Amino acid sequence: MKWAVRVERLTKDYVMDGETVHALRDVSFDVPEGDFLSIMGASGSGKSTLLNLLGCLDRPTAGQILLGDDDISRLDDNRLSEIRASRIGFIFQSYNLIPQLTVLENIEVPLHYQRRLDSRARRQSVELAEMVGLADRLKHRPTQLSGGQQQRVAIARSLINDPYYILADEPTGNLDSHTTEEILLLLEELNHQGKTIVMVTHEPEVGDRSNRIIRLRDGEISSDKRLREVAESL
Ligand SMILES: Nc1ncnc2c1ncn2[C@@H]1O[C@H](COP(=O)(O)OP(=O)(O)O)[C@@H](O)[C@H]1O
Ligand SMILES: [Mg+2]
Repeated sequence: MKWAVRVERLTKDYVMDGETVHALRDVSFDVPEGDFLSIMGASGSGKSTLLNLLGCLDRPTAGQILLGDDDISRLDDNRLSEIRASRIGFIFQSYNLIPQLTVLENIEVPLHYQRRLDSRARRQSVELAEMVGLADRLKHRPTQLSGGQQQRVAIARSLINDPYYILADEPTGNLDSHTTEEILLLLEELNHQGKTIVMVTHEPEVGDRSNRIIRLRDGEISSDKRLREVAESL
């Protein structure tokens, strides 16, 4: 079994006004390549904290995050942002597209950090736009798109740097039930193609579409349940 990422005894404390909040306490789990994992739990249970750590946006107080050959919890800021920009895909509840840029330009944003904007990259972004069903919207700007279309742009953007995994924070949180279904079908399709997805959601019917659900309670794993086997990657 190959691992997309391994989390070992991860702990995160926040200190505010002299008080310590234990946001994550000794959390351990492995994500096999090709898994589609949901992280669920009540508000304040540590979901965003965990996603931020997996996304190289923050560093743990203790413990390890093993990504390929790197323990990312020990890297300096430069190396951390390099990995974040070059090898992790992000999908947010509010899409986080750049309003001034077209669909194609938004998909290419992660490549700016790698100075990889050549004709091959352009072909790749057109292919990704086609894959998410936006072939006829390449020159549109985010305000000219529906919420579901904007989230499709974000999904295409999350794939352009061939990420170790895609982190999705409440990806359907702003969408109606019909559009939610469209986005879930797209995520399922990507997962069947072998992409590893880690998604935070508080909606049970969204979590049920993934392969596995880890529940957090007060910063600890209260259950880790597999619903489906990991997709055989091609
Ligand atoms: N930057 C921060 N500074 C201080 N406390 C924080 C910070 N971020 C989160 N917390 C606290 O850590 C705990 C976990 O928060 P969070 O990871 O955002 O939970 P969730 O995403 O599950 O709602 C909460 O008690 C929250 O108040
Ligand atoms: Mg949160």
